[in-house]
Amino acid sequence: MKFFIDTANLDQIREAAELGILDGVTTNPSLMAKEGISGKDQVMKHYKAICEIVGDGDVSAEVIATDLQGMITEGEELAELHPNIVVKIPMIKDGIKALKYFSEKGIRTNCTLVFSAGQALLAAKAGASYVSPFIGRLDDVSTDGLDLIEQIRLIYDNYGFETEILAASVRHPMHIINCAEIGADVMTGPLSAILALLKHPLTDIGLAQFLADHKKAAEAVKA
Ligand code: E4P
Repeated sequence: MKFFIDTANLDQIREAAELGILDGVTTNPSLMAKEGISGKDQVMKHYKAICEIVGDGDVSAEVIATDLQGMITEGEELAELHPNIVVKIPMIKDGIKALKYFSEKGIRTNCTLVFSAGQALLAAKAGASYVSPFIGRLDDVSTDGLDLIEQIRLIYDNYGFETEILAASVRHPMHIINCAEIGADVMTGPLSAILALLKHPLTDIGLAQFLADHKKAAEAVKA
């Protein structure tokens, strides 16, 4: 499973990249705004900086336009910025047309704001490279987000769709583990959820014991 980090914060992206397990980054207009990034020049510069940190990994950059021509213009500009940019397109009617347009042009896309299996089926038929079901936001409204990942996995496998399932709106380490069990191709989440995978009290207790025993043995040799 690929690991993407869901942030526009350069320090967090750097920290995840330094771990050596980062496969890409997803951003959205809210995450960009959180970093105080606005205006075309600043936005483009920021995406470029993210691409440089990530190296080989994909970087999803979302269009703001909601009409077909606007999405095409913005998406083409974003795609020209760096070969690793994946144009993020919302799941709306013109978005489907834009996905088809970009797929025919060989520009990679990520269909965002997906909350149902029907939407995921449409995105795959339109040739999206990635589909982003938002599991955390479904959980927020008392609907099991993981059930949706399972449904999409089944549908895509039934027909051999190559669209990758990018489990988005991941909130905690169990989301990551469950997505891996179900067979999501990618997960995107905050650095905190990725780092939480590291933690186990028995690891800490075991390491403390190993180090203490090593120290004791070294002191015994010295004495
Ligand atoms: C996906 O690409 C989105 O940026 C994201 O995962 C949304 O997550 P949130 O529900 O935590 O805002």
